[in-house]
Amino acid sequence: MVFVVVESMLLVAVVRFRHREGRPPPKPTHGHTIMEIAWTLAPAVILVFVAVPTVRTIFATAGDAPPDALKVEVIGHQWWWEYRYPDLGIVAANEMHVPLSRPVQVSITSADVIHSFWAPALGGKRDAIPGQINRIAFRADSVGDYSGQCAEFCGASHANMRLRVLVDDAAAFEAWVGRQRSGPAPQVKGSLAQRGGQLFARSACIACHTVEGVSKGVIGPNLTHVGSRTTIAAGLFPNDSSHLARWIADAPRLKPGSLMTRMAPPLTDADVAALVAYLHGLP
Ligand code: CUA
Repeated sequence: MVFVVVESMLLVAVVRFRHREGRPPPKPTHGHTIMEIAWTLAPAVILVFVAVPTVRTIFATAGDAPPDALKVEVIGHQWWWEYRYPDLGIVAANEMHVPLSRPVQVSITSADVIHSFWAPALGGKRDAIPGQINRIAFRADSVGDYSGQCAEFCGASHANMRLRVLVDDAAAFEAWVGRQRSGPAPQVKGSLAQRGGQLFARSACIACHTVEGVSKGVIGPNLTHVGSRTTIAAGLFPNDSSHLARWIADAPRLKPGSLMTRMAPPLTDADVAALVAYLHGLP
């Protein structure tokens, strides 16, 4: 729209006021005080009109939420999101669950480079800066699945650093909290999942991932309840058997630059299948 208006005016001016033989030279407008005051004041007034609601909204969303707000700490990592619920003792990744109609106070920081937390439907974006905590507060008014994205270039897989905020009604949120607070699910003796669990506990996986009671790695997402997530790899793929298997076998192929490298020696298909059964058995 702006382009069309500006270009049309430009074309009219070029055609109407072009040089013709015998025409007197145009009158200069240099030193026209009223005109100069006008074109200084007009943009200033427009900027003030834009600034007032903008600044008000920034303060409203950055303000402290009421004391009963749910506290969530967001930590950006290359290239995934960690969510900690300090009052509930929960550590989750990539999918943030929040209850309907309750204020949420989000504190945002980063473990490595600068990222930016942005779930457009739920509020403005805030930079995730190492060593600093930025806040954003929101209250979701309808149940749903709100997608978001890292909004600050942060390396090879910046575009693959997605996130989701799942707004649950009170009962569903309580159920989620209950599951997340329980320990990891036990495996049936002699099952494929149990074999996967044994494999996990003696592989390189434990250096980066936590499964409560099994390992304490903190470089990658906590996997104690990975089976309860609907997506893997920071919201890139559905958490189904085929994607999880491909992810375990060769993560950098699905997400360039992924810190989760290929295992050496490579895992056999049978090992991957056992790990998938184990991880999907951790709801
Ligand atoms: Cu993280 Cu871009």
